[in-house]
Amino acid sequence: MIFTETRLIPATTDAILEAAELIRAGGLVAFPTETVYGLGANAQNTDAVTRIFTAKGRPTTDPLIVHIADRNQLERVVSAITPLAEQLIATFWPGALTLILPRHTSIPAIVSAGLPTVAVRMPNHPVALALLEASGVPVAAPSANRFAHTSPTTAQHVYDDLAGRLHLILDGGSTAIGVESTILDLTSDPPRVLRPGGISLAALRDMIPGVILVSRYADSNIATPNPEAHIAPGQLLIHYAPKATLYLFEGTDASIYREIRQAAADQQTAGQRVALLIADDDLAPLADLGLSVVSLGRLADLSTVAQRLFAGLRDLDAQDVTVILARSFTEDGIGAAIRDRLIRAAAGRLIRVD
Ligand code: TXA
Ligand code: MG
Repeated sequence: MIFTETRLIPATTDAILEAAELIRAGGLVAFPTETVYGLGANAQNTDAVTRIFTAKGRPTTDPLIVHIADRNQLERVVSAITPLAEQLIATFWPGALTLILPRHTSIPAIVSAGLPTVAVRMPNHPVALALLEASGVPVAAPSANRFAHTSPTTAQHVYDDLAGRLHLILDGGSTAIGVESTILDLTSDPPRVLRPGGISLAALRDMIPGVILVSRYADSNIATPNPEAHIAPGQLLIHYAPKATLYLFEGTDASIYREIRQAAADQQTAGQRVALLIADDDLAPLADLGLSVVSLGRLADLSTVAQRLFAGLRDLDAQDVTVILARSFTEDGIGAAIRDRLIRAAAGRLIRVD
């Protein structure tokens, strides 16, 4: 369904001012952040926020993140700021850390899916900050993709998913981090990471030794979502889903190669169009399979892997493959976020081999 004409334009100063005007008028604007592109609307305007849910096809039970450009705006978004929150903000903002705090009454309930809390962050991207500053209001912005689809890391990804459903897309190139922000719930004791992301767990542990990572999928049986999932609305297991069926292989390199070879043969016999989602290090060992391949970078360079991950999934969908055989990466640093997104893209089809 087409609601409106969508323009995709370079994020010049004039374009940013026009986008800010649209936000103030209740419109929808997609903009780059350092993590992924966001679909923004005035967070204080219930009708504008409602348009975000409609445009994405997102259920209103899935709360949004509020974006601010200035520490002073925080008092209008949250109703209490703890000393720990202050410390985290001083260290990590602007940056890929979203904090869950008690919601201020000026933020309509729909932003938070009716929860008494609100998610807030200050993005570390010049276009996002300029837009937020010029609009002068806090901006609610989920990732700018269709609900449950892969998050967008380029303006074109946004256009491909949402053309006709928003007014303007500011093109600021590819996003640098490539996976979404880390979400840290400060309303629980101890604080809990609800989603691993651009800021590593190790970095948070330095400041919060007792911080815990909430697993939203039971680890022993990954196909069964953790019942605790209800405390973190919106974190569905089936998320970031490519059209193809993705299988994720975890183990030693040798065992991963062995299993990928076997699976490729089986799937091709079954008539599937198979592709590989692997690392540069795997290219030579698997070259003889003659399959279409997306390589995400070197195993030792997880920043590059994260940066390319979502575009890689979209590229494979564009090649119209039906099965993706993917390798897993280590969980160090941003690796925890990479693994989380791959497990979701696999909808739980994690195959442990040794
Ligand atoms: O990097 C990012 O965080 C990107 C950019 C655009 O800032 N945004 C993003 O938003 O990833 P979204 O909507 O795709 O993911 C936000 C998630 C929700 O799915 C939900 O799980 C969690 O944040 N969330 C939001 N408000 C919450 C709350 N009050 N309590 C618990 N979780 C919340
Ligand atoms: Mg999202």
